[in-house]
Amino acid sequence: MRLSKYLADAGIASRRKSEKLISDGRVQVNGMVVLEQGCIVNTEKDIVLCDGIRVSGQEKIYLLLNKPAGYLSSVNDPQGRPTVMELVKDIKGRLYPVGRLDMDTEGLLIMSNDGEFTNLMIHPRYHISKKYQTLVAGRINTAALQNLAQGVGLEDGLTAPASVVILEQRQKSTLIEIEIHEGRKRQVKRMCAAVGFPVISLKRTHFGFLTLGNLGIGQYRHLHPQEIEGLYTLATRD
Ligand code: URA
Repeated sequence: MRLSKYLADAGIASRRKSEKLISDGRVQVNGMVVLEQGCIVNTEKDIVLCDGIRVSGQEKIYLLLNKPAGYLSSVNDPQGRPTVMELVKDIKGRLYPVGRLDMDTEGLLIMSNDGEFTNLMIHPRYHISKKYQTLVAGRINTAALQNLAQGVGLEDGLTAPASVVILEQRQKSTLIEIEIHEGRKRQVKRMCAAVGFPVISLKRTHFGFLTLGNLGIGQYRHLHPQEIEGLYTLATRD
């Protein structure tokens, strides 16, 4: 098996990030640093180390976390800010977030140690839908709603059609639900700002068919095997 696939399968990092680990000289096979991407390992016999730690075929873990605002969706932060890793400390294994939510966004975040699964979930080609409860400043109007639904011109191009509904009209703000099928950086905030209604707070409530259910803020649960299978089916459908 190719070394980068072996690392990804063992939950060390995605395939692409594993290639970087190799080129950075952080991976050894049988005591030798390996820099070639094409290196083939014998999964039965070879001893693979990443940063000096033995890598072995590891049990796959899939969690659904209700991320609180104030936590970064990263494995570590050079600036020492709280990360979602602190919320899953009791899980053994090198987990990482499947995609990202902004630090001030709360809600549904999957965490896993399965690199192939992660790639499928976040790849834009697979269009998994995500729903966000979005509180925007001001009383939103029909033109803005239509614009959000039809596509908003952002600096990285027009957004794909979205579904938007008003959940609650308040005095000086509006709670809307936006369903998107892309996953661009800060997408919902940029879309709302572009139509003149900046986001006050954002919560992801759905990822495909997954919902937060009654999971408390900061809590997680393991995904059921049928849910993992369902996500694979969603990602690989036509
Ligand atoms: N869109 C955003 O703007 N932020 C998020 O965290 C997720 C989607």
